[in-house]
Amino acid sequence: MEAWLKVTNILGQVEVARTIAEIEQLVGLGPVAPVADAVHQHQTVEVTTEAGGERTGIRISPVTPANDVSDANPQPLFDYIVDQLNALKLTYIHVIEGATGGPRDNAPFDYASLRKRFKQAYVANNGYDVALAEKVLEAGAADLIAFGKPFISNPDLAERLKAGAPLNEWDKATFYGGGAKGYTDYPTLKATEAAE
Ligand SMILES: Cc1cc2nc3c(=O)[nH]c(=O)nc-3n(C[C@H](O)[C@H](O)[C@H](O)COP(=O)(O)O)c2cc1C
Repeated sequence: MEAWLKVTNILGQVEVARTIAEIEQLVGLGPVAPVADAVHQHQTVEVTTEAGGERTGIRISPVTPANDVSDANPQPLFDYIVDQLNALKLTYIHVIEGATGGPRDNAPFDYASLRKRFKQAYVANNGYDVALAEKVLEAGAADLIAFGKPFISNPDLAERLKAGAPLNEWDKATFYGGGAKGYTDYPTLKATEAAE
């Protein structure tokens, strides 16, 4: 299935990308969240797939300073963006709360406002552990929680969370390494127990 990104730039010119590589080329960015970054550049973005908006989600980072994408006034900007995304009937928005991989409270932002505006699923990410995930889910502040680093270091994360089992620590030294090391070689709980 091909991804589609249609960008109307501020001159009114429409450009279309049909593959991830073309999307990256079109928005002139590296592989990190190109669609969200395009939104951030105040361009009108329309995302569809051959399967339709109901099978498409989008990840946004309202206040992360990563890759210099931060905005001076993110609240009205992202309220507006989420209203537009809502109209596309996407199946979820995935929201990085705070600075990606850093503090969750680096800038004031009302995430509940996004949740209220978007009628489909709200996926929360950034710095969640089980306790915070359960608290946020129980409060109804998110529909789903996404884990990054805990999933890299625990191939059986879901099983471990269900069982209340301890988690493997992640090794920062193998992040962004370009190879399999640190991505496919963390042990499952079963493997650790068998080795003991
Ligand atoms: C090794 C590594 C690679 C990542 N690659 C990407 C990426 O390509 N695109 C992206 O949007 N986020 C990427 N992230 C950010 C994660 O998706 C996630 O937002 C971040 O780790 C915060 O979630 P966590 O606290 O659960 O780890 C990456 C994170 C790590 C540690």
